[in-house]
Amino acid sequence: MKFSIWQGSGMTLLASCLLVSAQETSLVAVKKAFDKSHIPGNISLTFEPKVLLEVTFPQTVPQKPITLHAGVQLPRNATGGPPNFNIIGPIGHGPFVVAAVDLDAPTPQAPTSAQIRHFLGGNFFTGLNFKSLTPSLLRNATPAISEFRQPTPPAGSDPHRYFNDQTLVTPNTSVALFNISQFASAVGLGQPIGGTFMLVGPPASA
Ligand SMILES: *[C@@H]1O[C@H](CO)[C@@H](O)[C@H](O)[C@H]1NC(C)=O
Ligand SMILES: *[C@@H]1O[C@H](CO)[C@@H](O)[C@H](O)[C@H]1NC(C)=O
Ligand SMILES: *[C@@H]1O[C@H](CO)[C@@H](O)[C@H](O)[C@H]1NC(C)=O
Ligand SMILES: *[C@@H]1O[C@H](CO)[C@@H](O)[C@H](O)[C@H]1NC(C)=O
Repeated sequence: MKFSIWQGSGMTLLASCLLVSAQETSLVAVKKAFDKSHIPGNISLTFEPKVLLEVTFPQTVPQKPITLHAGVQLPRNATGGPPNFNIIGPIGHGPFVVAAVDLDAPTPQAPTSAQIRHFLGGNFFTGLNFKSLTPSLLRNATPAISEFRQPTPPAGSDPHRYFNDQTLVTPNTSVALFNISQFASAVGLGQPIGGTFMLVGPPASA
């Protein structure tokens, strides 16, 4: 599943050289992981991340929440979500659009129903943690268009690539045969400013 984030229109770019240089390595690593998995080519988007998108899946206590590293493979039972989103980088407070799609449905070899829309929400803003004065998790000011759907790769399938992204879509629009680049272009989002992805295969026992 691939998670992407876009900047809304009319945003101010807050320059911060310190932040940028501190995160360069990670941004390079994220871009490398995307390129290695052919994701930008497969979804017809240019991916030059400017911020790190942190996607965290809560787990049943006492297990700690899992924050994705681009390209990590997770067991399906760790991906119930809904995930939390956080951005790291000098990009202001929003609004942002977050989307997640499965590029490999029903299988990576024959993705005939891809992309499957697993999440699509706009009007995300950063909060502020008043104790530490650091930005807190993204919160959406309006309900998501597509609430989070857990990955469900069919038995026997190789792991799927899941990416985050959003478009001209209502809650009733079919989640299958979604096209994230067409959506982004239709609503004037341009290219995503960040993203991450995970691989999820069917349970071993399936
Ligand atoms: C799409 O991804 C596959 C691997 O999953 C790769 O072989 C192919 O070259 C990619 N296509 C493009 C246009 O990037
Ligand atoms: C997921 O399943 C594995 C193997 O069945 C188990 O070891 C693990 O504790 C489970 N994780 C969660 C979050 O339930
Ligand atoms: C979605 O479908 C339901 C039931 O068919 C309908 O009541 C509702 O108005 C639709 N919503 C939108 C946004 O089209
Ligand atoms: C998605 O839309 C783009 C245009 O934005 C197009 O180039 C691409 O072929 C479409 N992908 C699929 C799988 O239809």
